[in-house]
Amino acid sequence: MLRLVTAGSVDDGKSTLIGRLLRDKDLIPSDVLQGLTDLAYLTDGLRDEREQKITIDVAYRYFEIQGRQFILADTPGHEQYTRNMLTGASTADLAVILVDARKGITTQTRRHTLLCSLLGVPQIVLAVNKMDAVGFQHSVFSRIEQEFYDYADRLKIASIVTIPVSALEGDNVVHKSAPMTWYEGPTLLQHLQHVHLGSLLNQVDFRLAVQCVVRPHQDFRGLAGRILSGRVRAGQQVTLLPSETTSTIRAILGPEGEIEEGVAGQSVILTLHDEREAGRGTMVARTANQPERATRLDVNLCWTDARPLQVQAPYWLLHTSRKIRCQVEHVHYQLDVDSLHRQPAQTLELNQIGRVRLVCSEAVFFDPYDRNRETGSLALVDPHSHQTVAAGMIRGAAPDPEKDQRIYPYRATVARSQREERQGHLACVLWFTGLSGSGKSTLAQALERALFAQGCNTFSLDGDNLRHGLNSDLPFSAAARKENVRRAAEVTRLAFEHGNIVLASFISPFAEDREQARQRVEPGRFLEIFVDCPLEECLRRDPKGLYARAQRGEIPEFTGVSSPYERPQHPELRLPLQPLENSVEQLLDLLKTRGILRPSNSA
Ligand code: ADX
Repeated sequence: MLRLVTAGSVDDGKSTLIGRLLRDKDLIPSDVLQGLTDLAYLTDGLRDEREQKITIDVAYRYFEIQGRQFILADTPGHEQYTRNMLTGASTADLAVILVDARKGITTQTRRHTLLCSLLGVPQIVLAVNKMDAVGFQHSVFSRIEQEFYDYADRLKIASIVTIPVSALEGDNVVHKSAPMTWYEGPTLLQHLQHVHLGSLLNQVDFRLAVQCVVRPHQDFRGLAGRILSGRVRAGQQVTLLPSETTSTIRAILGPEGEIEEGVAGQSVILTLHDEREAGRGTMVARTANQPERATRLDVNLCWTDARPLQVQAPYWLLHTSRKIRCQVEHVHYQLDVDSLHRQPAQTLELNQIGRVRLVCSEAVFFDPYDRNRETGSLALVDPHSHQTVAAGMIRGAAPDPEKDQRIYPYRATVARSQREERQGHLACVLWFTGLSGSGKSTLAQALERALFAQGCNTFSLDGDNLRHGLNSDLPFSAAARKENVRRAAEVTRLAFEHGNIVLASFISPFAEDREQARQRVEPGRFLEIFVDCPLEECLRRDPKGLYARAQRGEIPEFTGVSSPYERPQHPELRLPLQPLENSVEQLLDLLKTRGILRPSNSA
C-alpha cells in the first residue's frame, strides 16, 4: 500500500493529473471519500480535531493498480492550504510535487518540499507539468530539475525522482511520451507502481496510546487503543505513563479475538495482570524502553492559522491521544523558505515554518519525530476557535532556562584538596596571555618540564592545539575569540579541579574574556601571566610567517596588525623580553610565593 500526497496548485494542473491517472488506467476507485469520515485509522492523530468539529479539506481516494493499493490524499493547493498539505503528508510515503514548466520552481514548490522534508516523507517526485506548453523542450526540464536539486540537496530527503509530464496530453503520466524521446525514465504511474517502500512505522519502540478503558462487566477490564509503534506480546512488562506504574501484559485482543503479538498500526485491547490506573491519554510502553518525557519541547512548527502565533498565549497541545495545555515560550527562529536561512522572529504567521520552545502544563511522553512519527508529532489548537493552528514535529526536550535548579552536577568523589594533599602541591592556573609569537607556548613548555621534573601534576592547553580540535569551528572574530576563551576556561577549570597546575596559553586579547576565565577558578589560584613581548620583536620572529601574511592583508583580524590586543592592567606577573631561563625562574618563584609549590618541591 502506498500513501500518496500531491502538492501543487490547481493552476499547475493537479486535478488534471489525478484525473489522468485514474481515468487512463481503468482503476478501481474502490471509494472516493470526502473529509475524514471512517478514516480514523489513517488520521488517528486528528481524531481529536474531528471530535472538536474541525474540518480538514483533504479528500482521500483509494485505488488499486495491479496489486498495489494507493491511498491518495488530495489537498487543495493554494498557499493558505498548507494545513491540508500537512495533514496529507504526515502519513505519506511519497509526495508528488507539481510544477508548471512555464513557471518553474516557485516559493510554494519550495515550501512544500521543505514541509515534506520536515515531515520525513521519504520519497519525492517532482512532476514538471505542461511540458506541451514549452514545446517539450529538454532544456526547460533540465533547468527546472537542476534548480530543484540545488534546493532539495540542502534538505533531508531520501529519494527524489523528476519526471517531465503533460497531464493534459497524458505524456509520461500513464503512457510514455512520444515527443519527449529524450526522457528515458519511468512514467509517473510506473514509478508509483514499482517504487520501493520501507515502512514508515517505527517497529522497535512499543508505544500504545489508550483511547478508552473497556469494562463490559466486573471481570474484564481492558485498555483499548492503537499501537503507535513497535510490537508487544503477552507476558511482557510494561509501564503506564504518566502514572509510572508497572504491570505485565496478560492478553492482547484484536478485532478477531486474542492475538499473540500486536504490531504497529493495529488497534487492540490490552489486558494486564494488575489493575492499574489508566484512561484516555495513558501511554503504555515496555518498561525497558520508555519514551522521553519533558514539559519543555523544542519543536519545528508550521503555522497554519490566519491569526499569527502568540507567544505566552494558551493553546491546546494534541499529542497521541492526549490533550494538554501549553504555551509557546519562545520562537527560536523562522525559516526563510527560499533561502533556508534562519531568521530571528517573534512570531510565526500563516504558512511560516520555524523552531519554537513549547512549555506544557504536564509532562509529554514522546520520541523525537526523526525516530517516531507517531509519538513525535503534535498539533496546536486554539482553545477559543477550536481551529488547528499549527502542526509540530518534536525535536527533543528543550533545555530549561531555570535548569540550574534541576541539573545536579556530580560532586567530585575525590576532592581537589585530597589530590593536593597527596601530590604535595596545590592546583592553580597559569594563564599566559600575549601576542602571537610572544613566546607563550615556549615558556609554558619550559616551565612544564621544570615542574614535571619536580614531580608536579601539570596540564597544558594552548590556542593552536585547541583550535585544531575542540575549537576547530571557531574563526578569529571578537565573538569567536570570546567563545574560544570561554571553552578554554571551562577545560582549564576541569583540569584545575583535578588538582593540576594548568598552563593555558591563549592570545586572549580581550580583558573581559580573561576576567571571565579568572572567575571560573577559586580566588587566588588564577595567575595571569602577561608575556610582554613587543610587537616589533614578534614581527621579527614571526615563527609561522603569519605576521607577514597578515601585513599583506591575507589574514583578516590578525592580533597586533588588524585586531587589537588589550594589555593586562594587573597581571600576577609581567614577563619582559628576557632569556627564557629568567622567565622560568620568575615563574617558579611566583608559584612558591603564592604557596602553590611547597619549599620542599623545589629541593
Ligand atoms: S585567541 O585570539 O583566541 O586568543 P588563540 O590563542 O586561540 O587566539 O590562537 C592564536 C593562534 O592562532 C596564533 O598563534 C596563530 O598561530 C593563529 N592565528 C590564525 N589567525 C589568527 C588571527 N587572525 N589572529 C591571531 N592569531 C591567529
